[in-house]
Amino acid sequence: MLKESRITFIGGGTMAEAMIRGLLDQDAIAPDRIVVADPSDDRRHALANGYGVGVTPNNGEAASAGDIIVLAVKPQSLAGVLADLQGRVAEQNLIVSIVAGAPLARIATGTGHKAIVRSMPNTPAQIRRGITVWTATPEVTSDQIKQAQAILQSLGEDVHVDREAFLDMATALSGSGPGYVFLFMEAMVDAGVHMGFPRRVAEKLVFETIRGSVEYAEESGKHVAELRNQVTSPGGTTAAALYRMEKGGLRTVISRGIWAAYERSVAFGAQEQGVKDDGSSDG
Ligand SMILES: NC(=O)c1ccc[n+]([C@@H]2O[C@H](COP(=O)([O-])OP(=O)(O)OC[C@H]3O[C@@H](n4cnc5c(N)ncnc54)[C@H](OP(=O)(O)O)[C@@H]3O)[C@@H](O)[C@H]2O)c1
Repeated sequence: MLKESRITFIGGGTMAEAMIRGLLDQDAIAPDRIVVADPSDDRRHALANGYGVGVTPNNGEAASAGDIIVLAVKPQSLAGVLADLQGRVAEQNLIVSIVAGAPLARIATGTGHKAIVRSMPNTPAQIRRGITVWTATPEVTSDQIKQAQAILQSLGEDVHVDREAFLDMATALSGSGPGYVFLFMEAMVDAGVHMGFPRRVAEKLVFETIRGSVEYAEESGKHVAELRNQVTSPGGTTAAALYRMEKGGLRTVISRGIWAAYERSVAFGAQEQGVKDDGSSDG
C-alpha cells in the first residue's frame, strides 16, 4: 500500500519517530522513501542515524518531495509550518495531520490544499498500542484513505469517523484518556501502599488487575455493569468500596472531567478557526 509512496514528516519529534518506527518494523515502506523536516540538528542526526531516513531543515522542500505529508508538530508551531507549505503540496498528494486541535479548514486554508486527513492519536502509540480517531475531507481518494490508515496503524488501532465534530469528542475520551487512567492507577497504587504493600508489589497488583479486567471485559463481550455486579457480593468488600466511591461522586466526577476536556477542545478549535495563516488572530 505504501511501498511506492514517498512520505514526508514535518516535525521529527516523539510521535513522528513512533510512526517511523512502526512503519519500518512492519516493513511497510523503505527508509529511503521517508524524509523528515525538523529544525533541530540533533533530531535530524538522531533520525537519520537511527532509521536511515532522509532529513532536512527545509519544510517546503520536504513537502514538495512527498506524496503524503504528515504534519507532526506541536500546535504552537503550526502557523509557521502552514506558511512554509503554502503552494508546496501538489494537488494529487495527501496531507495527514496528527496536530491536536487543528481543524481541517485551518489546514486547508493555510496550505491551499484540500485532500486532508485529520487524526487524534494517543500516548500508547509509543508502543503501537494507541487508538487513533480520524476523518477525511471529501477530496481524499479511496486509495489515499488506505494509505492514511496504513500510516496511522503504525501507532496501533484506528477508528474512522465521518464528522469532524467527533475529533473533539475523541480528544476528550481517548486522546486525554491515558491521563485519567494513569491518575486512577496512581490512586490505587497509593491506596495499596497506604495499607502496607511495598510500592513495587502494589504496582504489580494494580497493573495486572487493570490489564486483566480490560481483556476479560473484551473477551466476555458482557456489559461492564454486569461484570461489576458479578464481583459485588451482597454486604461484601467490593460493595463497601463501590458504595464509598459512588457516594464520593466518582462517576459524576469522571463524566464532568471528560466533558470539561471536550469543551476545552471545542474552544481550542474555535480559537484556531480564527487564527490567520500568519499566526495572528481575528480576536
Ligand atoms: N505525544 C502524544 O502522545 C500525542 C497524542 C496525540 C496527539 N499528539 C500531537 O502530535 C503532535 C506532535 O507531538 P509530539 O509529542 O511528537 O511533539 P514533539 O515531540 O515536540 O515533536 C514536534 C517536533 O517538531 C519540531 N518542530 C518545531 N517547529 C517546527 C517547524 N516549524 N517545522 C518543523 N518541525 C518543527 C520540534 O522541534 P523542537 O523540539 O526543536 O521545537 C519537534 O522535534 C502534536 O501536535 C500533538 O498535539 C501527540
